[in-house]
Amino acid sequence: MNATQEQLKEKFGQAMVAAFGGEYAGVDPILVPASNPKFGDYQANVALSLSKRLGKQPRAIASAIVEKLDVSEICESPDIAGPGFINLKLKTTYLEAQLNAIQADSRLGVPIAKTAQREVVDFSSPNIAKEMHVGHLRSTIIGDSIARILEFLGHDVLRLNHVGDWGTQFGMLIAYLREVYPEALTTANALDIGDLVSFYRKAKQRFDADEAFQETARQEVVRLQAGAEDTLHAWKLLCEQSRQEFQVIYDLLDVKVTERGESFYNPLLPGIIEDLDKSGLLVENQGAKCVFLEGFTNREGEPLPLIVQKSDGGYNYATTDLAALRYRIQQDEAKRIIYVTDAGQSNHFAQFFQVARKAGWIPDDVELVHVPFGLVLGEDGKKFKTRSGDTVRLRDLLDEAVSYARADLEVRLKEEEREETQEFINNVAEVVGISAVKYADLSQNRTSNYIFSYEKMLDLKGNTAPYMLYAYARIQGISRKGGINFNELGENTKVLLQHETELALGKYLLQLDEVISTVEQDLLPNRLCEYLYELSKKFNQFYDRDRGVPVLTAEEPLRTSRLVLCDLTARTLKLGLSLLGIQVLERM
Ligand code: ARG
Repeated sequence: MNATQEQLKEKFGQAMVAAFGGEYAGVDPILVPASNPKFGDYQANVALSLSKRLGKQPRAIASAIVEKLDVSEICESPDIAGPGFINLKLKTTYLEAQLNAIQADSRLGVPIAKTAQREVVDFSSPNIAKEMHVGHLRSTIIGDSIARILEFLGHDVLRLNHVGDWGTQFGMLIAYLREVYPEALTTANALDIGDLVSFYRKAKQRFDADEAFQETARQEVVRLQAGAEDTLHAWKLLCEQSRQEFQVIYDLLDVKVTERGESFYNPLLPGIIEDLDKSGLLVENQGAKCVFLEGFTNREGEPLPLIVQKSDGGYNYATTDLAALRYRIQQDEAKRIIYVTDAGQSNHFAQFFQVARKAGWIPDDVELVHVPFGLVLGEDGKKFKTRSGDTVRLRDLLDEAVSYARADLEVRLKEEEREETQEFINNVAEVVGISAVKYADLSQNRTSNYIFSYEKMLDLKGNTAPYMLYAYARIQGISRKGGINFNELGENTKVLLQHETELALGKYLLQLDEVISTVEQDLLPNRLCEYLYELSKKFNQFYDRDRGVPVLTAEEPLRTSRLVLCDLTARTLKLGLSLLGIQVLERM
């Protein structure tokens, strides 16, 4: 709900008390945006909902409310329509005053959250010795944007990288490297991640085929868990190597995330088993320790167990997540914990959330949210692969986006007969390429699969990063052309909304806070993308030679008023894009 809706709600509260008595204070006016702009901006549906309680016709209730309703500062006089809807149309003078107010506000009218709280965003979270894949890319981009939005709202966000840095894979890898390339276990940077990944693959093949090797690998895991010095040292080197490679991607994407891998929670795992046992949830099943789940059954309809300790004493992914969850609640004091992973892990989250709840570890004021996303598909609709059928390396993918962006830019420069420095070209290509990848991901509803296409994401038309960046640069072009410093438009300028495109743009500019507060709740950044896209379209209509209004050539006071609208649009784009992790370009 935005500030206007809140004010209206309060006024409705007062009117209902005046009309029907004190017990009607706090009744929700059920205020929703009007279904058709012809009827106004908002519609209150409360009269219909009170019909039973008051034993009157909704229309009569509506007129009793309207009679006591004092919204004259905000709206034109309310209309009653249909069975008893109350239609409200915002006054132009009210909108103008609101726009003047946000013009002077660096937050553009978006308030700090009333209850700022600690929130954990668990995202990116690749696995050591394995390559970071497109699923991790989605997690990184979506998680970063969610974190940025929550931070902007004033929440105390802990960005956590739950790196897969522990487990049986290390036994395999270390045992294998001991045989074929022991230097890698003693010398820093003896391998690069590409080698590491291929060694990992070979180690796995060996493990699957050779029983004696399985035993060696297991012993290596035992040595790792027992903290044997050489194994531990080797493990650290391997982690360091992967970390360096991950960092290259984070730098390219301008993403900050704090590493707190699975190994961090190791010492807490025995305590998890103990406490589950104490709470009576733990069951031994064929030597494994588990908790039986509700709502998850096998084909025979029998309840499924969540295994928290295997018969060989080893722990599982879920055990670590239980420990991490408790730590985040008790030590980090998180009030909301958000996990960004592919939808394929939905059961995993539902299951360990359930176990943690049953164990009584989740206080009522703590919210657990799995934020699932769909797959990245190739243009053929199948799993995203290189032409030769290999998995795509993220670094190559990002580099390729940048080189496509560069090629597009060079064509454009030629067409426009423009000369630019190499530095300019490099910067524009990099910003456009990386933004295109991010925006293509964020602009989809994250729960659906998305088709990765360089061509589509770099299209200058449509809901793409280049389109949004271009809209921003175009507005900066107005200030350059007119020799105007937007920052100096001054506080005494008055916004005027006379033309219908001005009114539409002005109203839309005032909706940013509502959009952001929706994303705070549903964690769907695509809503912000849609808003920014719609805003650019509204701006283009306002600035359109035929349908819109003149700006630089307009007479005062309209000229300044329109420049303020330009500036507000640019600032909204810049702020909105920054919350998506996208930086703007003054020129492109
Ligand atoms: N490392 C996991 C993967 O690559 C993602 C971890 C997500 N976070 C968590 N707390 N389980 O799929």
